[in-house]
Amino acid sequence: MADSTSQSTPAPIVTTDKCIIRAYAPSDAEGAVAAANYPELVQYMRNTFPHPYTLDSANYWINLCLNSDPMVNFGIFTPEGIFAGGIGLTPYKDIEYRTWEIGYWVGKDFWGKGIATSALKAFSVWAFERFPELIRIEAVVFIENIASQKVLERVGYTKEGIRRQAVCKKEKIMDQVMYSLLRDDLRDLS
Ligand SMILES: CC(C)(COP(=O)(O)OP(=O)(O)OC[C@H]1O[C@@H](n2cnc3c(N)ncnc32)[C@H](O)[C@@H]1OP(=O)(O)O)[C@@H](O)C(=O)NCCC(=O)NCCS
Repeated sequence: MADSTSQSTPAPIVTTDKCIIRAYAPSDAEGAVAAANYPELVQYMRNTFPHPYTLDSANYWINLCLNSDPMVNFGIFTPEGIFAGGIGLTPYKDIEYRTWEIGYWVGKDFWGKGIATSALKAFSVWAFERFPELIRIEAVVFIENIASQKVLERVGYTKEGIRRQAVCKKEKIMDQVMYSLLRDDLRDLS
C-alpha cells in the first residue's frame, strides 16, 4: 500500500485516534486505487463510483475535488498516512440549500477497525463548523448495507424512514434508508 506522507501533503482538517481527514494530493492516486479497487466496496455505492477503480479513475476524482469550490470531498487516511477511504458532501440547491448529503467509503483492508465511525463523527462536526449555512446532513443507505447503518446510528444520525424501491443497482431494486443529523443534534453527540 502506498504511504501518502510527503512534503506536499495537505494539512489535516480532522484528526482522530483512528484517522486523518485531509484534502487529496495528486500523489494520492495510487493509494486510492489500492483502497478502492474491490467489487465488495462498490455494491452499495452509486454507479458514479467506478469498478474497476483505475489510476485514471483516481486521477479524475482527485482533480475534480481539488478544483471544486468550496472543497467538500476529502481523503481518509490512517494515522500513519496510508490512504484508507473517502468522505464528502454534496450540497443541495434551491429550497434545500441548507441540506447536504454525506457520503463515505473505507477500503476493504481497513473494514471493522472503527475508521468510518470515527471519520463520520468528526467530519460531521467539522462540516457544521465550516459551513454555517448548513443545518441538516442527510445520508441515504441501501437497506442491505447493515455496516453503514450501524456506523450512522453509532455516530448519532437519526433513522427517518425507508425510501421504498428507491434504487436499482445491477438490475436489483432495493429500498433505501434515510438518515439525518441536524446542527441541533450536535449537542447530543458524546
Ligand atoms: C460501510 C463502511 C463505510 C464501514 O466502514 P468501517 O470502517 O468498516 O466501519 P466501522 O468499523 O466504523 O463500523 C462498522 C461496523 O459494522 C459492522 N459490520 C460490518 N459488516 C456487517 C454486516 N454485514 N452485518 C452487521 N454488522 C456489520 C462491523 O463489525 C462494525 O461494527 P462493530 O465495531 O460493532 O464490530 C465500509 O464497509 C464501506 O466503505 N463499505 C462500502 C462503501 C459503503 O457502503 N459506503 C457507505 C455508503 S452509505
